[in-house]
Amino acid sequence: VVHGRPERAAPWWLARRDELLARAALGTPRYVYHLPTVRERARSLLDGGLVDCGFYALKANAHPAILEALNAEGFGFECVSLAEVQHVMRTLPSLAPSRILFTPSFAPRREYAAAFDAGVNVTLDSMELLQRWPDVLAGRTAWLRLDLGHGEGHHEKVRTGGAEAKFGLPVARFDAFMAQARILGVRITGLHAHLGSGIDDPAHWREVYGTLAALADSSDAIDTIDIGGGFPIPYTPDARPFDLDTWRDGVRGIKSAYPRCRLAIEPGRFLVAEAGALLMHVTQVVEKDGVRRIGLDAGMNALVRPAMYDAYHGIHNLTRIDDASLDTFDVVGPICESGDVLGHARRLPAATAEDDVMLVADAGAYGMAMANTYNLRPLPAEDILDE
Ligand code: LLP
Repeated sequence: VVHGRPERAAPWWLARRDELLARAALGTPRYVYHLPTVRERARSLLDGGLVDCGFYALKANAHPAILEALNAEGFGFECVSLAEVQHVMRTLPSLAPSRILFTPSFAPRREYAAAFDAGVNVTLDSMELLQRWPDVLAGRTAWLRLDLGHGEGHHEKVRTGGAEAKFGLPVARFDAFMAQARILGVRITGLHAHLGSGIDDPAHWREVYGTLAALADSSDAIDTIDIGGGFPIPYTPDARPFDLDTWRDGVRGIKSAYPRCRLAIEPGRFLVAEAGALLMHVTQVVEKDGVRRIGLDAGMNALVRPAMYDAYHGIHNLTRIDDASLDTFDVVGPICESGDVLGHARRLPAATAEDDVMLVADAGAYGMAMANTYNLRPLPAEDILDE
């Protein structure tokens, strides 16, 4: 039924169809998260002990049950706002602050001050921070986020390196930054880089690691190297799962050359994307000028990725999952924008009709997290499947 996935295990939701139809009957749009998938992905990254600290980038999905599951698997948390830091602390009251990493971008001074006072790891990413806010920074211990000069990732909007991106200190200014930090009494103990999201090439992290490790050699205080997130998942039917073995081999090579520092990663998408499905009901099926469209009770308000990045998500008719007679449809939402299209030219059951339940796959990352109430449509509900 799920075509073109020869090397991939059947998705979890296929075996849970009846349960998902029952959940959909409670109301849609509705995200459902499968915690066993989250746990499995967490173990695939942390097992073997190569990675010393995993920080889950909770911007991908901040559901408390997901934070609890990842904490139990040994993950800490990477946060980009003080609100995210506070959300983690409220959800996991006994978590040590050192398990939290605050990697802000153009955040206000008070967020830095509050994060330092809370004892979480904080990443600095410009000379101007040192120059403008010595009162906040003097005497602190912090990490340094570097821009290695180029970005990577599935879309230009998610590439976070190079002159066009707002993130990180250019690597050419590393020595000047370290000298200025010493003068201020700011102790830099970690080096950090994150070049983008949805990076297919497993050699990417080895290169980042090699660059950061060579820089870390210049200071005995540096004890952690964070090589970022960006691990991809196979969204399209012909995509292959990420080659973790090649990733591990490359990273292991650098680690054995620079054993002094702990290795940190901060994945978001990889841990949660495939664990999430978005359920919606069909509202109308309409033909116009030769194009057949399936309308759903939510679109870019519930899942903005297709509109924002031309992202592909598998779309399935859960009600008619076994129908063999297919037709070609665009799948659209109810939002007053031409860009409110979840999928173009999809092969779906020809008999698709009002009130069928449709499932959008791999929606656990940057789905609910980016959902909005445009057109005053309500936010989706969220359900957890714990086993
Ligand atoms: N670390 C930092 C500093 C980041 O900025 C991000 C993501 C991550 C880690 C986690 O990246 P991941 O492992 O999830 O690729 N909304 C976009 C993705 C934006 C990513 C933002 N930063 C999307 O839906 O594709």
